[in-house]
Amino acid sequence: MGFDGNGRIWMNGELVDWNDATIHVGAHVIHYGTSVFEGIRMYHRESTDGKSAIFRLRDHIQRLYNSAKMYRMTPDEMPLRERNVKDDRLKYSIEEIERACIETLQANGDRDAYIRPVVFRGYAGLGVDPRPCPVDLVILTWRWGKYLGEGALEQGVDVCVSNWNRFAPNTLPALAKTGANYMNSQLIKMDALENGYVEGIALNTDGYVSEGSGENLFVAFHGKGRGGKDQLITPPLGASVLPGITRHTILTLCEEVLGMEVHEAMIPREMLYIADEVFFTGTASEVTPIRSIDQIRIGSGKRGPIAERLQDEFFAIIDGEKADKHGWLTFADLD
Ligand SMILES: Cc1ncc(COP(=O)(O)O)c(C=O)c1O
Repeated sequence: MGFDGNGRIWMNGELVDWNDATIHVGAHVIHYGTSVFEGIRMYHRESTDGKSAIFRLRDHIQRLYNSAKMYRMTPDEMPLRERNVKDDRLKYSIEEIERACIETLQANGDRDAYIRPVVFRGYAGLGVDPRPCPVDLVILTWRWGKYLGEGALEQGVDVCVSNWNRFAPNTLPALAKTGANYMNSQLIKMDALENGYVEGIALNTDGYVSEGSGENLFVAFHGKGRGGKDQLITPPLGASVLPGITRHTILTLCEEVLGMEVHEAMIPREMLYIADEVFFTGTASEVTPIRSIDQIRIGSGKRGPIAERLQDEFFAIIDGEKADKHGWLTFADLD
């Protein structure tokens, strides 16, 4: 189901045929990028119990809600004075959006799927003030193979530091996952691809490492932590990064399972080149090792032992080989 035109899309409370899920060209989102969205994955556990497990659904929908809240799209306003403005808000709760995701998955029946809820300002007028425009919610799901590029997860990828920076603090909120933010991601991605790399790493406007166009980033040093522990560093949330759900997962696994020393700290660009390992994390990229940056070999030039252990832990939980003790999985009953 999906971009072949088959399947159904959830639109403001109704499941409509894929090709009928259209909006007016005068919608606010088309002109000003007024949208927030999520990217969530459901995995088919073929090797164990055959169930389909959605990874961290609640956390993704909470982030969707947070993104919408920052843009005054949720019903959280506490006005201190009389207002005379038409002001539409999101009509669905976090629980209702979760249920709608599951309903859409059930309607489409794919067992390995990508889930894309989008909250956007629709059609009412094109003033810059978005508030009079309706807050619409759509949910697309489509089939997505189990692991993206088996090769990349094992061999690692060749990337560059981009010419483009992430946006400065207090310009576009980096903690929100908005359509508009991805104009910046597109510049980073195109810059990398045009120069022969598969992905770009952006610095923030202070010149410190931020993240990839669609991934958070970690650097690792073998045995360099206190007591000879391995050490892992990722940029803090103030470094213009998206608060990645996979980032949080990896931080948790490192501390709890692997007993590593973990820091959220500013990373100068040159630290990338001398790390023993650098890897991306994200819903799409999972844990993808980086084997070179700006044509400089990182560590051994292939997947390192920390990335491999993290991949093993991550997939063991998703596949049901290890207990899901944090309640990260939601099962969509697809039978
Ligand atoms: C810019 C950016 N950073 C980080 C991530 C990783 O976030 P998550 O792990 O929640 O998918 C994404 C993925 O959506 C992203 O687009």
